[in-house]
Amino acid sequence: MPSSPIRKLVPFAEAAKKKGIKVFHLNIGQPDIETPKICLDAVKNSDFKVLEYSHSAGNESYRKKLVSYYAKNNIEITHNDIIITTGGSEAIMFGFMACLDAGDEVIIPEPFYANYNGFATQSDVKVVPIKSNIEDGFALPPIEDFEKAITKNTKAIVVCNPNNPTGYLYSAEEMETLKNIVIKHDLFLFADEAYREFCYEGKQVSAMHLKGAEQHVILMDTISKRYSACGGRIGALVTKNKEVLDAAMKFAQARLSPPYYAQLLGEAAIDLPDDYFDITKAEYKLRRDTIVKRLNAIPGVFCPNPGGAFYAMARLPIDDCDLFCQWLLDSFSYNNATVMMAPATGFYSTIGLGKNEVRLAYVLNVDAINQAMDCLEVALKEYPGKR
Ligand SMILES: Cc1ncc(COP(=O)(O)O)c(C=O)c1O
Repeated sequence: MPSSPIRKLVPFAEAAKKKGIKVFHLNIGQPDIETPKICLDAVKNSDFKVLEYSHSAGNESYRKKLVSYYAKNNIEITHNDIIITTGGSEAIMFGFMACLDAGDEVIIPEPFYANYNGFATQSDVKVVPIKSNIEDGFALPPIEDFEKAITKNTKAIVVCNPNNPTGYLYSAEEMETLKNIVIKHDLFLFADEAYREFCYEGKQVSAMHLKGAEQHVILMDTISKRYSACGGRIGALVTKNKEVLDAAMKFAQARLSPPYYAQLLGEAAIDLPDDYFDITKAEYKLRRDTIVKRLNAIPGVFCPNPGGAFYAMARLPIDDCDLFCQWLLDSFSYNNATVMMAPATGFYSTIGLGKNEVRLAYVLNVDAINQAMDCLEVALKEYPGKR
């Protein structure tokens, strides 16, 4: 199993904190936005005598309410197309295990959400990366690159939209391109839409909107980021492909049921007012604008403007992002503070790529982001491995 690039520097951050240094955590997508009160109240006010297993596919009442959430996003499904999972993570795992056999290949534009590597390892599946580039903001690689990568073992493509780690928001044309490839080669399209609500330049085109690809698309979803409810561990696998759903259900039954309490939380969230996302989105947009502006103002730094999610990838004038991110924690401080970022190498599957890039999660308020950028600016002047 590969280690997570997002978490592997945690011991260094802990050591820095023990020395009394404040660490600005831009390394992990843990939002600081408060979980909505009506969601927490739904758990607090729950009233039952036995904390039972739920249905393996999740509570029917929750799945029925989710249908209206998806309808608001122009995704027409029934509650029978949904399996509630333990986070989006389990939805991805179920998708891989239900659709892919050992030795099958899955194509993923890189850099990609690092845990796909771990899920692929667990399912004995081979990840075939296709490089996207920081110069064009990590747009979808050309169709020829996909065609070249497809072999007799290719069974699926993963698209994360908006993207983690790049923040890229795929256009309608790019989603059509993906649709055409999966139909032409009879592949699955795993669509990770954990950040659906957080789009700042335009609207997300869901893979579930792709007409004619209904039997190919498996949607992996989660409430973790949507409602700032990462600890609830509630996600969903959604597909109109009955055979896939039946196979995924066997895995769902083997693990018995998804968490009970957080299903109550997820169900209550559907009643949030429509402007709930306007407020959180406006806050993230302000943070994005701040961090991108500050990064691009530092000499030698380049950060494309991400259209969605809450991540930015930046190219830095450094030799090695793993060394730099560790150095920031064990050898540097400014005003008794430092910044923790995720080295980009862990988001690439091709060895050697991303060595001078980092991922920053803008999950802190604007004031903290500005202080973190002050640290980074000074650090880049002092770092011995400057390029
Ligand atoms: C793209 C993406 N997919 C899936 C997940 C997993 O989310 P969950 O907390 O729902 O397991 C994350 C978490 O950061 C993510 O960024």
